[in-house]
Amino acid sequence: MTKVLIDCDPGIDDALALALAAGSRALDVVGVTTVGGNVDLSLTTANALALREFLQLGDVPVTPGSAGALMRQTVRAAHVHGTTGLGDVVLPAPERGPSDGHAVDFIVETLRAAPGEITLVAVGPLTNIALAVRREPRVVEWARDLVIMGGSYTRGNTNPAAEFNMLADPEAAAIVFDAGWTVTMLGLDVTLSALVTSAVLDRMRPLGRLADLLVPAAQFYGVVTADGGPAIHDACAVAYVLEPSLFTCVPAVVNVETTGTYTRGMTVTDFKLGDRRPNALVATSLDVKGFWDLVMGAYERLAGR
Ligand code: BDR
Ligand code: CA
Repeated sequence: MTKVLIDCDPGIDDALALALAAGSRALDVVGVTTVGGNVDLSLTTANALALREFLQLGDVPVTPGSAGALMRQTVRAAHVHGTTGLGDVVLPAPERGPSDGHAVDFIVETLRAAPGEITLVAVGPLTNIALAVRREPRVVEWARDLVIMGGSYTRGNTNPAAEFNMLADPEAAAIVFDAGWTVTMLGLDVTLSALVTSAVLDRMRPLGRLADLLVPAAQFYGVVTADGGPAIHDACAVAYVLEPSLFTCVPAVVNVETTGTYTRGMTVTDFKLGDRRPNALVATSLDVKGFWDLVMGAYERLAGR
């Protein structure tokens, strides 16, 4: 079992990523931490709490973290994820509340207690992770791996240069990429091929109460057609932990632009290393069929519980 701590801002694709983790036999989710991102922290936390119970994640602690970026004005994506963050899906109200304390402390203490064992999966703005690095630089050694959904070496989605999670807190992203570990970066270059097409949606429809989340969430997230649909970006990060061979990853030096007038949040990616140590493993391709087989297998297992 791979132990994962998932830092997220649910968010429709965050929810679908949590569902993948919940349905997988190979992952042990040791904690969920939340960050303000797609919607405000109060909503991302409320969604994570509702998802913990809906997805039967048991007593996994849900700990709220940073409400906003380190230095920047808040950027939100409610136009993509809906005002609550989960489109028009209304999950049953959760019975249990969040854990006491702050996500940054939870991340530091959880990694301290199990050095080398826990993979951090970050699928929102990197504010909590950056603050954890600043609070205790040894988290870089203690984390088994850091896998993020964010950035791109070819394009942006929030503007031509920047992907949402990077643009939402570019200084945090810069801290994280400069921290001394090797960041596995699953960017738009691959996540934009993880599309919920009509064939995928048809595989989701028979999944009982889980379909009540997956189907309307996907339909809210984008227009589903035979060969297109919304990209469930964040599920790629969880899929990578489960099955890295689905992805091609190339070592690179990634610098996050923090000062550009038009390029703030851009992940400037150099595959020509020279004598430099790579600070990232950047995903360049995805086995789309293998990805969906993995995801649907987990969803089917979860639905059958
Ligand atoms: C990323 O931005 C958010 O809107 C999604 O949840 C995902 O993490 C995609 O750019
Ligand atoms: Ca997200």
